Amino acid sequence: MVDLTTKYLGMTLKNPLIASSSPLTGNLDDIKRLEDSGIAAVVLQSIFEEQINHEMHEIDHFLFRKTNAFSEATEFFPIDEDFDHIRPDEYLNNIQKITESVDIPVIGSLNGVSEGGWISYANKLQDVGVDAIELNVTYIPTEVNLNPREVEDMYVSTVKDLKEHIKVPLNLKMNYCFSNPAFMAKRFQDVGANGLSIFDNPALVDIDLENLTTITRINMTSSSNLSETLRWCAILYNQLSVDLCANTGIHSGEDVLKALMSGAKATSFTSVLLQKGISEIGKMLMYIKNWMIEKEYESISQMIGSISLKHTDNPSVFERNSYMQALTTYRY
Ligand SMILES: Cc1cc2nc3c(=O)[nH]c(=O)nc-3n(C[C@H](O)[C@H](O)[C@H](O)COP(=O)(O)O)c2cc1C
Repeated sequence: MVDLTTKYLGMTLKNPLIASSSPLTGNLDDIKRLEDSGIAAVVLQSIFEEQINHEMHEIDHFLFRKTNAFSEATEFFPIDEDFDHIRPDEYLNNIQKITESVDIPVIGSLNGVSEGGWISYANKLQDVGVDAIELNVTYIPTEVNLNPREVEDMYVSTVKDLKEHIKVPLNLKMNYCFSNPAFMAKRFQDVGANGLSIFDNPALVDIDLENLTTITRINMTSSSNLSETLRWCAILYNQLSVDLCANTGIHSGEDVLKALMSGAKATSFTSVLLQKGISEIGKMLMYIKNWMIEKEYESISQMIGSISLKHTDNPSVFERNSYMQALTTYRY
């Protein structure tokens, strides 16, 4: 028998497979199906700062830093029929039903960028029984005069503020668009993040040539998107004590094994479930078990970080050499 359990955010998960935030984790029926299929935990579909603030009539928003006038800001604010289809109180009732009905850990998900009243909503999530809270900070700086340090400080103070409001563990779904993501990961750890999801996967931007408008589309991944996930888990493991969750490009049992070896304690995914169905969970678990038996691994914990950069004296030189080698040894 192999031991598939892993410790993540202070919880013992029965295996390292987590369903990440998506419409599939927004309703009880699907979450029960995920549980029955063997998933170890779910991250709920996010509630957005804009949805919470809309209810609180609050517009103290980092996004509106240049639009001082309240009226100007409200013009941009998402309106009910376009966006605000989830009411914060309904959302809480729904979560309470979910936490009361399933046995696996349920991780609440907040998506926002600023300090402000919406953060206190995290308390309400705790009160309806979530086991941890994930924060997704998705902010795309568009001003040429905005100092990157100011953006980084905004991220850090949002994480710190949220951490001060909650008792349950905090997971940050991290963005990779920093000059030094490792430095930011350390800053997030220092202000209390218990886990980091490596990384969030941004939506795609395109142009509709018929209607001459921009389009923002969901970015479905494949295993080919796993590379940055592996790279950064391998870099961060051993430098930080925070738990790492490999989040983008996990599509198979092989991907899960690679992520664990690079230093992740758990993996979370959604594209594969939306594209191929939740029966993939059973196949992934079967592959992992068989592989472990074949390679004589007894437990997941033996595997975590075994192929990270912990044995490398200078990871930057290692990264640079590997990059050079890949480019210069290509034969056509
Ligand atoms: C349809 C869809 C909806 C999503 N909704 C959310 C969301 O509400 N909150 C969030 O933090 N991430 C959301 N995500 C991002 C996923 O949780 C995940 O981080 C991302 O898709 C990368 O994982 P993957 O490679 O398995 O797709 C969504 C992704 C998809 C495809």
